[in-house]
Amino acid sequence: MTAACGLSPRRIRKNNDSTISSIIVFVLNVPEKITTSRLILRRPLLSDADAVFEFGRDQEVTLYMDWPAHTSVQAAKEYLRDCVPRWDTAQEYDWMIALRDTGQVIGGISIRVRGHSADFGYILNRDFWGRGFATEAANAVVNWVFGIGSIYRVWATCDTENLASVRVLEKVGLTREGILRCWAIRPNISPKPRDAYVYSKVRCSDDVHPPESRN
Ligand SMILES: CC(C)(COP(=O)(O)OP(=O)(O)OC[C@H]1O[C@@H](n2cnc3c(N)ncnc32)[C@H](O)[C@@H]1OP(=O)(O)O)[C@@H](O)C(=O)NCCC(=O)NCCS
Repeated sequence: MTAACGLSPRRIRKNNDSTISSIIVFVLNVPEKITTSRLILRRPLLSDADAVFEFGRDQEVTLYMDWPAHTSVQAAKEYLRDCVPRWDTAQEYDWMIALRDTGQVIGGISIRVRGHSADFGYILNRDFWGRGFATEAANAVVNWVFGIGSIYRVWATCDTENLASVRVLEKVGLTREGILRCWAIRPNISPKPRDAYVYSKVRCSDDVHPPESRN
């Protein structure tokens, strides 16, 4: 997920004084917990480290991530620690994806809000692929963010070979805008940047200001 495929332990932007540099333009009412029919999305805890490491170290799960697979639980802990300041400074909102029945953490989803747009990403433990969980989690987050009146565009990127993610984005109602050439380095595949699709769902400006009303 960074939001585009995050779970990276190196994500807090700092200025030269090493102070957190994000300027919070306005505070969103971001839910700390989102419940769906089968899932709970909730803020990460340090105690989630083992569950995060389980999928963060999996070569197949992390293939298309823009961060290297975790080699120790320490990487998962750093990611979890950084979630707090990222959330508090509005840089990125991360939720753990947990099963509603058992509380088991099976993945993560995150979103970044920038002005009138927001981009999101997700990751799931391989044992839970193919059961619609990513679609369910992504739907919940996209619906939440589109409920914010100032958000007009929700978008995501994914590697052009990441067909499962392509399908999730389509099922959530995003449409493909095009290809971003040499968009991201996927260090678990190669050090060379790779092409990515960009998908979006927009609250079309024409819906809000139809052409005839502009005359
Ligand atoms: C992408 C990912 C989150 C999908 O999770 P998931 O819970 O299995 O997704 P869903 O079950 O909601 O939907 C997956 C869809 O992709 C389809 N799919 C899976 N593998 C596919 C493949 N190789 N080719 C085409 N479609 C594929 C499934 O059939 C399903 O579509 P359907 O419901 O129409 O049958 C999961 O594979 C994952 O964690 N991958 C690694 C991390 C990642 O790539 N994250 C996205 C970064 S942009």
